[in-house]
Amino acid sequence: MKEESVVGIFDSGVGGFTVYKKIKEVTSANCIYYGDCLNAPYGNKEEFEIRELIKADILFLEEKKVTHFVNACNSMSVLTTDALLQESGIATDHYTDMIRAFDKHAVCKEGEIVLVVATSATLRSGVYQDVLTHKGVNAAVYAYTDLAAAIENNRTREELLTIVETGIVYAKEVGATSIIYGCTHYPLIHGLFLEVKEKLGWQGEFIDPAIYVAQEVRVWGITGEHGFCPYSSKDTAVFIKNVIKFV
Ligand code: DGL
Repeated sequence: MKEESVVGIFDSGVGGFTVYKKIKEVTSANCIYYGDCLNAPYGNKEEFEIRELIKADILFLEEKKVTHFVNACNSMSVLTTDALLQESGIATDHYTDMIRAFDKHAVCKEGEIVLVVATSATLRSGVYQDVLTHKGVNAAVYAYTDLAAAIENNRTREELLTIVETGIVYAKEVGATSIIYGCTHYPLIHGLFLEVKEKLGWQGEFIDPAIYVAQEVRVWGITGEHGFCPYSSKDTAVFIKNVIKFV
């Protein structure tokens, strides 16, 4: 692999940091991060708006001379077709995202009930439902319509716990044995999910698809100095907090 290879990671805001965290565990590749905090959250936007934002985010990273792209946002991943990549001049073997990696690497127990918690845009696409059905799993879905925004906007622990609880109540209702974090923002508050799990006595486990993305990035075989350069379209308190946490 050429030395000048650089991985570009993009998300609507701070969610992609959870993907970067897994990537840096498996590679020394130098990474550039772009969080579009100015336009976050994406998950309540219309498809045509999200497609335009995907192209803009990719362009930002192309201007930074990134060679490999990680779409660290499910709401964008479900809409990123090969045609869109071609339009942006990205070779598919220099690109991965939440869905492609999950589809390729996730192993599920046949007949298991899996609950995908995600944004409205992600679930509206039906992509996770299709992938899980192909894996022989019974897919249930729950849209957290305001959780990503609540995280971006630094809402209180109590407010976040109240929102998180609604999804776990639903997991119990449908008999889910796993919850897939279908939004990269959610692992940022994994501790709160665990608290609610305990409180409600739900027995299942949480799956973070970022581990599959990291597997894909490792295969690229890029080496570097663990360099990390974060950019955002708006320097919010939460973005700065995460830069400090992950750098
Ligand atoms: N973190 C993103 C995702 O995985 C987007 C959340 C949002 O901007 O609504 O879907």
